[in-house]
Amino acid sequence: MCYSKEDMSAVAAGKSTMDVEKIRADFPILQQKVHGHDLIYFDNAATSQKPRAVIDALVHYYEKDNANVHRGIHELSNRASAAYEATRARTAKFINARSVDEIVFTRGTTEAINLVASSWGRRFLNAGDKVLLTEMEHHSNIVPWQILAEKIGIQLVYLPVTGDRGLLDLTRLDEWLTRDIKLFALTHISNTLGTVNPIADLCARARRLGITTLVDAAQSAGHRPLDVQEIGCDFLALSSHKMCGPTGVGVLYGRLELLEKMDPYQGGGDMISSVDYFRSTWNKVPHKFEAGTPNIGDVIAFHTAMDYLDQIGRDKIAAHDLELSAYAYERLLELKGIRLFGPEKGRAGLVSFLLKDVHAHDVVTFADQRGVALRGGHHCNQPLMKKLGVESTTRASFYFYNTEAEVDRFVEVLKEIQSFFGA
Ligand SMILES: Cc1ncc(COP(=O)(O)O)c(C=O)c1O
Repeated sequence: MCYSKEDMSAVAAGKSTMDVEKIRADFPILQQKVHGHDLIYFDNAATSQKPRAVIDALVHYYEKDNANVHRGIHELSNRASAAYEATRARTAKFINARSVDEIVFTRGTTEAINLVASSWGRRFLNAGDKVLLTEMEHHSNIVPWQILAEKIGIQLVYLPVTGDRGLLDLTRLDEWLTRDIKLFALTHISNTLGTVNPIADLCARARRLGITTLVDAAQSAGHRPLDVQEIGCDFLALSSHKMCGPTGVGVLYGRLELLEKMDPYQGGGDMISSVDYFRSTWNKVPHKFEAGTPNIGDVIAFHTAMDYLDQIGRDKIAAHDLELSAYAYERLLELKGIRLFGPEKGRAGLVSFLLKDVHAHDVVTFADQRGVALRGGHHCNQPLMKKLGVESTTRASFYFYNTEAEVDRFVEVLKEIQSFFGA
């Protein structure tokens, strides 16, 4: 398995040094019982839990500073605008963007990718142009391109995944990443397989051929250091809610010169410079892409989430993910009739599997009765499921507040499920 330099540094070797018990005390939601059992929250790839500091930031905003941004000249509006723009600067620092103007707030990764498909795609792609995706993409990095294909006739091409081990088939990359590709849009970490793609290497290969790149960082942004300059991508998308922040906030990073050439995504207040009855001119980047009243309070609380993650240390979070998923993978191998998906080593913080003769939904329903929150289904990866020849998998996805003891309990519950179903 070949990892890029930034991945290697992210997954620092050795035991992580986090005090997980102390960290868990920051998360009020983890202190509860579900169906009479201590909650084990293993659905972090869907959404993460929020620390007290983020919840407090939201409450503080609504109790003290709530006002619309960029409009008023009164004290509250000034405070809200300053805090909203401070989050933009914090985000630029978090992913090492060259300029704060390269940060566009969206509702999430999905909207960020739709924005690129709509504003960049319609401007720069023509009928017959090829967009390269991979077979492990989330629906949100497939469907926007399909919609564009229907509208303007672009062609979608998929870089293959190598079966259950779930790696990109990089031995044949030259066959796929060719000069006639206009955009390479791919995920950094697979939400179903736990594969960590060598994103900087792939973006460098694409750049050498003059291909624009988009990285879906939904599963990586809160789990490891992320540096857009080191990765060398043109666009990158992430979601606050998967990284201890509120729902309804996402980020599109775009290289400034590209954002400046793109058309607006939506029309309305704030994104304009001037409006006439028949013609308007646009605000400067990034405001050109933020029409209407944004999700102010949640954006502001996202600032606190990034501070919180950096206080813990994203390198430590990456090491913890690596250790916990390796431990879970090992323990799952004890189960008879289990089919595991994704790489054996160097996986992100999740495991995905099928138990022979037990449907994934039955596993999840049974586990829920024991207080274990899992996810069963296609995980918004229907084409990948088809490729793997399955309808669904069960997924346990971890974060830095999860422990080996929780993994032990989870394996115990799976054994109970197998004996209940006579599997
Ligand atoms: C890899 C990947 N991309 C994109 C998304 C979509 O993120 P959101 O629903 O926050 O827009 C997800 C969500 O699970 C994901 O795992």
